[in-house]
Amino acid sequence: MLRNDCFACHSVVDRVAGPPYLDVSRRYLSPDAVLKKRLANKIAEGGGGLWYGGYMSPHPLLKLEQIDAMVDWVLAIHSMEQIWFQQCTPQQVSDWDLMERGRFRMEVSTNGNSEVLRSGHGDQVCFWGARAFASLEGKMVQVSGQVEVKVPGKYLFRLHKTGVGSLKINDQVVIREDVTDHEYIKELSEGSYSLVLNYQPVSASDTLILSWMTPSAEYFTVIGQ
Ligand code: HEC
Repeated sequence: MLRNDCFACHSVVDRVAGPPYLDVSRRYLSPDAVLKKRLANKIAEGGGGLWYGGYMSPHPLLKLEQIDAMVDWVLAIHSMEQIWFQQCTPQQVSDWDLMERGRFRMEVSTNGNSEVLRSGHGDQVCFWGARAFASLEGKMVQVSGQVEVKVPGKYLFRLHKTGVGSLKINDQVVIREDVTDHEYIKELSEGSYSLVLNYQPVSASDTLILSWMTPSAEYFTVIGQ
């Protein structure tokens, strides 16, 4: 699906031209053969009228087995979503305070001021739970680090965030602060890439998770796993 045009109109969680795949899988929670056939036909022939008024283009060049596999993948997403969420143990920013090593470095500063109030390291950007960002309202959190890419291809980055945050890859903003833009596809060649995440917490129980779908993966994994 990453190699085809499916992600031009759909993303997993966000509403773009087409419905998010997660919403599609939640709409059809107990799919039977008739439903799967209907969805496969719609992908092959194109169509509209069920979601937000848009129209899906036909896909005459795809083989039936490919389309069936795509339908199965889309329909299973709601269950993968739960697994994905359990991959990371909830962390608090304060857990990172004293750590000196890790893939990512975190700095907390006062908004609009470059003075660093706290800093630390961690291996996964996976902050969630009741007190993830305790007493950081009005502060700016910056997390930066490098990722190694060994397999060239299309990568789908996902920044799951409840506050205001952006993601930069090699100094280019790829996920902007506006809440609706959580996913980004990037063609990467082998090498090392710098990631910088700027985040403004809005409450102590915010969620901030940075993950990706690698070219051969079935679903998102938290970066660093
Ligand atoms: C040109 C934009 C576009 C492209 C490209 C596209 N889609 Fe869609 N897709 C849509 C729109 C718009 C809808 C909603 C149609 C409707 O309202 O009935 C949709 C709906 C769907 C649905 C739900 C259908 C339903 O009846 O509920 C699935 C599943 C789907 N797309 C999968 C895919 C797959 C897989 C690909 C790649 C092979 C793909 N789409 C490519 C725009 C697109």
